[in-house]
Amino acid sequence: MKPFYITTAIDYVNGSPHLGHAYEKVLTDVIARFRRQMGDRVHFLTGVDEHGQKVQKSAKARGITPQAYADEVSAEFRALLPKLNISNNDFIRTTEERHKKVVRQVLQQLHDQGEIYQAEYQGFYSGRQEQFLQDKDRNPDGSWPEIYGEVTEITETNYFFKLRGYQQWLVDFLTQNENFIFPRFRQKQVLEFLKEPLNDLCISRPRERLEWGIPLPFDAGYVTYVWFDALLNYYSAVADQPGLWPAAWHVIGKDILVPPHAVYWPIMLHAAKLPLPHGLLVHGWWLQGGAKMSKSTGNALNPLDLIAEFGADAFRYFVIREMNVGQDSDFTREQFLVRYNSELANNLGNLVNRTLNMTTRFGAGAIPVAGAPAEAEQELQALWTRTRDEVLPLCEGFQFHSAIERTMGFITATNAYIERRAPWKLGKSSEPADQELLRTSLATMAESLRLGVALLQAVMPAAADRINSVLGYRPGPSWMNELTWDGRLAGCKVAEALVLFPRPQPAAKAPAKP
Ligand code: MSP
Repeated sequence: MKPFYITTAIDYVNGSPHLGHAYEKVLTDVIARFRRQMGDRVHFLTGVDEHGQKVQKSAKARGITPQAYADEVSAEFRALLPKLNISNNDFIRTTEERHKKVVRQVLQQLHDQGEIYQAEYQGFYSGRQEQFLQDKDRNPDGSWPEIYGEVTEITETNYFFKLRGYQQWLVDFLTQNENFIFPRFRQKQVLEFLKEPLNDLCISRPRERLEWGIPLPFDAGYVTYVWFDALLNYYSAVADQPGLWPAAWHVIGKDILVPPHAVYWPIMLHAAKLPLPHGLLVHGWWLQGGAKMSKSTGNALNPLDLIAEFGADAFRYFVIREMNVGQDSDFTREQFLVRYNSELANNLGNLVNRTLNMTTRFGAGAIPVAGAPAEAEQELQALWTRTRDEVLPLCEGFQFHSAIERTMGFITATNAYIERRAPWKLGKSSEPADQELLRTSLATMAESLRLGVALLQAVMPAAADRINSVLGYRPGPSWMNELTWDGRLAGCKVAEALVLFPRPQPAAKAPAKP
């Protein structure tokens, strides 16, 4: 089996998870499940980024140790995963020894190779971003952009990693591997960024300024810069698992592409003589009213509220259907309700109920054997073949929103087929030809539902399991043998009903006065 290693960014534990974090997990999970269905040996890693100034500061504000604070918030991030039905194989915390050990090894190796040197730095420092700034980072009027928070001028001796010497190597690498970053326009942005000369990267923070980090193995007076520590999680989590590195795809948001993932990370690996990952998948942002959803702007939606109201599958469906991977998307409750009602309840939910209900009424609860397909059946089968042949490459190219759209088109066509055949009319006739057509139509709608659901399995795993179970069917783990129209449901006993996507309850009214 081909190894396929996929990671999410690891989240800062300085606040609760919000919809942006949840989206990234769901997107990565859909890819992981899709690749498993394609027969790959998938390893899916997610986790938390626990060191650094932000966490130290949040812990201080609460009057507890950074470790106690990180334990608490990490548990919250971890608890979200099963609620979203995420199928990760591992969860890494950067405070774990398995991670710290690798960070120390890589630092020591780079130091021994002469890639790290000590120098005095004089300049501006952003506490919020934990990074040193240059004049080119200023606004045109000379002030510092808001994202940097408070900027102070400091003089400090620190350790630097020789990034600059690898600039040309990185440009050549990206030019030769034009599919390293998806979508491609992001790769072009990175090459644009690399037109300016790179500075060496300051990878240390003096202990007196920042306690909460991994001490440098060659100088205990310093801790490691949080990005140098965090990026290595992708490697430290699998360093002792043969065959996984470098079969990796990193799923990240656009805010952390340049410079950390597109510049520091490839150069760190190359300098440490490690192979580069297969690629970076860069998604856009969930916005609210045009602004990035985030803790600091206070416009963050709690995914748990939506899951409690609509279920994990509906949440997963919405974010994957709505977001064109790579673009930004505005989140509105109205749009969520439109998709929930029209696509899930009225289209898919309706097909499930019709299939169960009619098989119960007209087929004594068992899916019949289909007769020879007539024109209507042939059309639907041809649409199935087209849909499947389009959906697979769309998923391989991360175009999940289009893949769902095509699949839902096939579900809509199946509902239209049912209208056309009108089994409720055929059921009233005792003509043998009508009875045959009735059996064919029941078998056809069930087969169509089974196949449509197979394509939705990665996006709505729980709903897919429930639908298969009420159809009396248990699919295999891979798609190899699932996507052919072959009437395999004949004889399966169906359940009478299944409420998959209940209508949302209107807001509770105040109780009437007695
Ligand atoms: N800790 C760093 C990542 C280190 S990876 C070695 C970090 N953490 S974060 O908590 O701020 O963000 C984690 C991920 O969530 C990032 O990929 C980020 O882009 C994503 N999102 C945070 N807010 C988002 C939205 N509003 N919309 C979509 N995703 C966004 O950065």
